[in-house]
Amino acid sequence: MLREVLDVLSPAAGSLQVDGTVGGGGHAVELARHTGSTGHLVAMDRDPEMLERARQRLIEELEGTDRPKMTFAAQTYEELPAVLREQAEDRRADGVLLDLGVNSLQLDDPGRGFSFTREGPLDARFDRTAPGPTAADLLNTAPEKEIERWLREYGDERHARRIARAIGRRRAETPLRTTTELADLVRRCYPPAHRHGRTAPATRTFQALRIATNDELGTAARGVRACLEALAPGGVLAVLTFHSGEDRIVKRLFRDASTPPEDPDNPYSVRSEVEPDFELAVRKPLACSPAEAERNPRARSARLRAIRRRKEAPGDER
Ligand SMILES: C[S@@+](CC[C@H](N)C(=O)[O-])C[C@H]1O[C@@H](n2cnc3c(N)ncnc32)[C@H](O)[C@@H]1O
Repeated sequence: MLREVLDVLSPAAGSLQVDGTVGGGGHAVELARHTGSTGHLVAMDRDPEMLERARQRLIEELEGTDRPKMTFAAQTYEELPAVLREQAEDRRADGVLLDLGVNSLQLDDPGRGFSFTREGPLDARFDRTAPGPTAADLLNTAPEKEIERWLREYGDERHARRIARAIGRRRAETPLRTTTELADLVRRCYPPAHRHGRTAPATRTFQALRIATNDELGTAARGVRACLEALAPGGVLAVLTFHSGEDRIVKRLFRDASTPPEDPDNPYSVRSEVEPDFELAVRKPLACSPAEAERNPRARSARLRAIRRRKEAPGDER
């Protein structure tokens, strides 16, 4: 949804643009072209391997052009305010993009454990240098009820209970270690007639596991707040989600930020006369075009929401 993202962010020459989830760098290259030599691009990714790839791509593709100053931070977008403080002279952002979820380069690397088409370790951490638990750690230690909840809430998995129980039985004998072991276990939990549908049975389980391993919903809630704080007056935050739970979080936070606060002096809690600091930049979430859905199946579930800090918004004492 590159065109839609550029439309809502409308990155001007000289502006400070942030790609908080730079991934393969596709969006970031375009943001950099628009901001030009007087602008500044801050590129972040929690996955240091992806950040390095994006850095190389940006440098190569923008060589010989009027490219902006570029700053790279292998951190989560929750840390954007601190990154701007330390690496952008405390300037606030004119545009922030969050394109949530996993990248096809990560999915295609069996060593990362995000997918099950080839054998690999059950890792699924965005940042393999972090001490946090891997997907295997969670599967082999979390209570069965908790695993069932992840499968249901993060994977919309209809057979959540059956799969969680099968994991419990299996780990009582030997711990689960590889992606294909888990995929086989999940397949056996499906009725035979449903084992060979268009979507492989393990797809939902792997999505759920990735979201749990990286606390993606908690990160989204904290991170969207941090990005709102980091916006300059007139600045826009655009968020692309691919999962309904994530989209609900963004929707709620954007609604709260763009609604007048309740009047503390009014016992009936009528909305105060105070204007909120933010306004929605798109009323209804944008979806991808039918042509893009055809080309890129992942884009089918994409939702783009955007919010703007009003120009005259207070709270700009920095
Ligand atoms: C869908 S991809 C982004 C694709 C990118 N827009 C492009 O044009 O190639 C999502 C990226 O977000 C990164 N990511 C996930 N959680 C993150 C977080 N909390 N902070 C920063 N990056 C994160 C992932 O490592 C992945 O590279």
